Amino acid sequence: MSAAAMGSTNQTGRTKIGIRMLGTGMSVPPRVMTNQDLAKLVDTSDDWISQRTGIRERRVAAPGVTVRHLAVEAARQAVQNAGIDPKQLDMLILATTRPEMVCPSTAARVVAEIGASPAGALDVNAVCSGFVYALNVGASMIQSGAMRTVAVLGADVMSAFLDWKDRGTCILFGDGAAGVILTASDDPEQGCLRQTMGSDGNQWQHLYCPRSAQDIPPNDTIFSGAFETMQMNGREIYRFAVATLQGEIDRALDAMGLKPSDLAMIISHQSNSRIMESARQRLGLPPEKLYINIDRYGNTSSASVPICLHELWQAGRLKAGDLVLFVALGGGLTWASSLWRI
Ligand code: ACO
Repeated sequence: MSAAAMGSTNQTGRTKIGIRMLGTGMSVPPRVMTNQDLAKLVDTSDDWISQRTGIRERRVAAPGVTVRHLAVEAARQAVQNAGIDPKQLDMLILATTRPEMVCPSTAARVVAEIGASPAGALDVNAVCSGFVYALNVGASMIQSGAMRTVAVLGADVMSAFLDWKDRGTCILFGDGAAGVILTASDDPEQGCLRQTMGSDGNQWQHLYCPRSAQDIPPNDTIFSGAFETMQMNGREIYRFAVATLQGEIDRALDAMGLKPSDLAMIISHQSNSRIMESARQRLGLPPEKLYINIDRYGNTSSASVPICLHELWQAGRLKAGDLVLFVALGGGLTWASSLWRI
């Protein structure tokens, strides 16, 4: 069906195309690493980690398992749950903090391995904001009429670039992948209603992964000494995360003339349960309206938002017509939001 036949026409004369989520998929490594396991590696405790972050355990990939392996499994499941043939995909967008290689893109190999060639393939890196960036890009491709069916995935194997001697960072992250299949809908009111993507590269030095000495910022106070591992100023990131999460939610509600109670669900990047809880309480929302699973997976970076989406979808907690706000923030520094009518 042509784009023009699928949507109504807006005041500018341009065809409005809706978007439907067809199905989701998810893949996490089988190995569970608990806080008690971590306390055997670094000077920490289950109490400290769970009270400060909400994390109780995370999944850790076996040596040799890469972001591609997890992404392929999540993509296959999403295609199957969507009930489509992989050849129906026009594009696959993979958000990841660290692709398998610089060349080729990981997305290109995922497309080939799930049997979706010759679909387009695109890696997106906005660190923990990556999936919401990718969701916005995929939605725009469909709304423009350029693409009809797009897979959007988030996948990260954070354990491969953590300093396992640095208790400030290694306790926070986990590995995983998940994604969703989007397709053009004949209901123009369904899909992405509003999107934002932002960055402040002046604050990059609060979260970075240096390759060599030239990447260490001047006057750095946080570098642990291990290259190719995540370096983080936890207090600065915490401050940024609290302000940005709340600000993005407020701006989305204001722009659309909505009350917090109009939202059926907020699906937030899982950085710290205290950050999410403070946003939820300030909005006066009940716990079931801001999904939290950081206790089971830790911070899976690009994968955290789609893992939440997949679990909610599988549990039947998202209904047609629901207003759902996706929101994320991360290294860069970056942030993004995406308001959807499901
Ligand atoms: N176990 C025990 N003690 C620890 C640990 C640990 N794992 N890590 C740090 N400490 C100690 C510190 O050394 C410090 O000790 P001191 O007082 O003797 O100096 C004390 O605990 C307090 O340290 P802070 O860094 O001030 O602890 P804070 O309350 O800020 O919590 C945390 C740290 C959990 C990292 C918090 O800052 C945070 O969540 N920040 C956001 C980080 C984040 O989300 N990063 C993810 C990537 S970006 C993103 O997803 C948005």
